[in-house]
Amino acid sequence: MGNKIRLGIVGCGSFVQAFIPLFKAHPYVEWIAVTDLIKERREGHAKKFGIERVYDSYEEMLKSDVNAIAVFVQRELHGPITIAALKSGKNVYSAVPVASSVEEIVKIASLVKETRLTFSMGETGHYRPCSIFCRNMVKSGELGDFVYGEAQYNHDMRHFYEHYRRSGGPDWKKVAGIPPMYYPTHSTAMVLSSACTYAERVSAFGFVEKQDADIFGTGMNYWDNPFSNTTAVMKLANGGIVRTSENRRIAWYGPMSYISQFHGTKASYEFSISNHSLVKLDGMKGVHKDINKELNPPEMELKRGDEDFADGIVNNKWSGTMAPVQYRDAERLPEEYKGLHDGHGGTHKFMADDFCKAAYTGKLSPTNIWVAARYNIPGLVAHESAMKDGESMKVPDLGEPPADWPLLEV
Ligand SMILES: NC(=O)c1ccc[n+]([C@@H]2O[C@H](COP(=O)([O-])OP(=O)(O)OC[C@H]3O[C@@H](n4cnc5c(N)ncnc54)[C@H](O)[C@@H]3O)[C@@H](O)[C@H]2O)c1
Repeated sequence: MGNKIRLGIVGCGSFVQAFIPLFKAHPYVEWIAVTDLIKERREGHAKKFGIERVYDSYEEMLKSDVNAIAVFVQRELHGPITIAALKSGKNVYSAVPVASSVEEIVKIASLVKETRLTFSMGETGHYRPCSIFCRNMVKSGELGDFVYGEAQYNHDMRHFYEHYRRSGGPDWKKVAGIPPMYYPTHSTAMVLSSACTYAERVSAFGFVEKQDADIFGTGMNYWDNPFSNTTAVMKLANGGIVRTSENRRIAWYGPMSYISQFHGTKASYEFSISNHSLVKLDGMKGVHKDINKELNPPEMELKRGDEDFADGIVNNKWSGTMAPVQYRDAERLPEEYKGLHDGHGGTHKFMADDFCKAAYTGKLSPTNIWVAARYNIPGLVAHESAMKDGESMKVPDLGEPPADWPLLEV
């Protein structure tokens, strides 16, 4: 028996609303507390979700009897809160990314190693249908040796304006101009987790923004970042190569995160808009297998053939629920999750469950700090490379988790 989780949520914005019901319902969670800098938000969430414990600040929360915290503050603010929480002896669930500097990530890993507390990053890309499919192909040997993969997270700034305004106040543009590669994990996690390896070197180029040059522009944001889009090419430890793109100015709405190509020596996966294909060679002949029914949610496949089907796809209409390729993994989810809302390609329940089980049992989460570092650090270095016009740079690697720390079996 482990210790039940008394979870303090830091940040009462929009995304956390999808997770409070999942944390609340989890059998390993005893109770939940909330805090936000903005009084109306912390009180509003407490009322909406029936939460009794409300703290004025996360510092107060860390002094209380919570034994875990969940970081849901804006993307550029995670590192210091996670470090403070670990120093206070609390387990940590963090929305992506881990942090905005390599130094902070190294610090978090060393605190986790020293304290043996849980750190679990909620990375949707780890559990997307395409990632599970490609990873299974690599693990089973069906793909052969991994050769080349491509993944992207396309989220145009036009869909972000309101969001940044709401939490950013008058200076919202200075925050909105964060380098795209400081939020790299939706693309890196997909191809790297699937290829079962990590990046050793990276070379990247950025697109210097013209339209929103008062957001992405030299002197315009806290990072002096001119790029709205950045593409990185990475050399991997297993000899493979990946291309990842983080795009914030692109005529695109959905799908947002996807692997477009994933090639091995024995099989290849390819995706476009709504079509997933598996291709193999039979002698000299290509053999195509339609895997849409496995990788798309059933309610979406039922609509294939409708006149407005493609419009629905490019507007993220069926982006929230699970696809059959995820059903086997879903068997480990608690009964209490049945009927609860999911999101981001049917990934939310996996992420919440990983954290709760890891913190309760003391085992390592699948997206522990060593895994999360390998998703996050290549992006931070990619931005540096892009600022140096594509200079090839070494990616620091924090290595594997301690060998005596068992991994949660999920
Ligand atoms: N697919 C995904 O994985 C995904 C999707 C959406 C958001 N996210 C991540 O989730 C996080 C939250 O996103 P969001 O859209 O809810 O943001 P948001 O701006 O709506 O909410 C963030 C909240 O944190 C609060 N906050 C900031 N600093 C604080 C502090 N020191 N103490 C207490 N509260 C503080 C803000 O007041 C705000 O209410 C971000 O890091 C984002 O990157 C991930």
